[in-house]
Amino acid sequence: MYPLNVAAKERVLAPMIQKSAWAPPRPAAVGRLPRRKLAGMSTAHHPAPSLPTAELHLHIEGTLEPELILALAERNGIKLPYPTLAELRAQYEFTDLQSFLNLYYANMAVLVTEDDFADMTRAYLRRAQAAGVRHAEIMMDPQAHVNRGVPLATAINGVASALATSEAEFGISTGLIAAFLRDLSEESALEILEQLLEMKAPIIGIGLDSAEVGNPPQKFVRLFDRARAAGLRLVAHAGEEGPPSYVVDALDLLKVERIDHGIRCLDDAALVARLAAEQMPLTVCPLSNVRLRAVDTITDHPLTAMLDAGLNVSVNSDDPAYFGGYVDDNFGAVSAAFGLDADTMAVLAGNSIRSSFAPDSRKSELLAELAEWRSVQA
Ligand code: ADE
Ligand code: ZN
Repeated sequence: MYPLNVAAKERVLAPMIQKSAWAPPRPAAVGRLPRRKLAGMSTAHHPAPSLPTAELHLHIEGTLEPELILALAERNGIKLPYPTLAELRAQYEFTDLQSFLNLYYANMAVLVTEDDFADMTRAYLRRAQAAGVRHAEIMMDPQAHVNRGVPLATAINGVASALATSEAEFGISTGLIAAFLRDLSEESALEILEQLLEMKAPIIGIGLDSAEVGNPPQKFVRLFDRARAAGLRLVAHAGEEGPPSYVVDALDLLKVERIDHGIRCLDDAALVARLAAEQMPLTVCPLSNVRLRAVDTITDHPLTAMLDAGLNVSVNSDDPAYFGGYVDDNFGAVSAAFGLDADTMAVLAGNSIRSSFAPDSRKSELLAELAEWRSVQA
């Protein structure tokens, strides 16, 4: 809508993205290597390698850092209700999922042009590279943009253009997942899905997100049938705030291949046994669960209980700009809370790689990298 010429773009974005005024948050040291292993090792000239992992649960709009929100608002001439960094940051106190979603959707107002979507995506990839992410399956919310007047092609092409160069620029292979807002109608979702198929959008799958309670999987059976018929992969948020029955219905009615979150499965022993038997991937997001009060503190998080129950869990960041950290921060938090050893970290990362939709050849490559990482921890 307000494209900047190259010089103006450099003026606005260069200090924000490339110089010291703004850089993506720094990776957490703890996520790189279990601390107790450092003692006998020389790290003076060889920085510890990051744990290689796949990020399977990431909303690209949830990577908009406050500094980037303000810079994009300025670039697009948008007046935000929270005009300073301090005022904006003061909004990041959440009581539940809906309180977060209100801010998350409001902040999307700054995403107007293809460049905005591309810059947001590239900033995530840069930070993810530092976090050890080697493969990322990235959700975006097309309806959230179309419904505020941004053309579907603008949003999709912007994100996709950054993903197209991700492997060459950052060494991160990627896939794009169109997530549908479950608090909107199935008709709205079907309409957007048809447009995505018509325009041959480079998506590998669909997901289901937004306000969970009161919007059960059975509302979207036709949507998932259509996506499956089109050859798309299927995932859905379930059991974040909603009951275990939503997880069961996502499996049985939507026939999803992964459950996003799924932590509330622990309230149903039969469901846990089924998920373990099927090795159904659960993309867990520890810091998100703390910030959205699904659990009280990180030490109350069920991650280790889920591992003990034989569940196929991975560690992911969900909306890292809102929840206090990227995937390395999430690994760091659970590692510190539960004293995880290198074997457990490697199990979590291995689960993420095996549960991804990457080609088998890429999975093998990344599992070999993980084995290499593990061998230098011994
Ligand atoms: N959209 C972005 N983040 C989400 C989350 N944690 N749960 C549901 N919908 C979301
Ligand atoms: Zn999510």
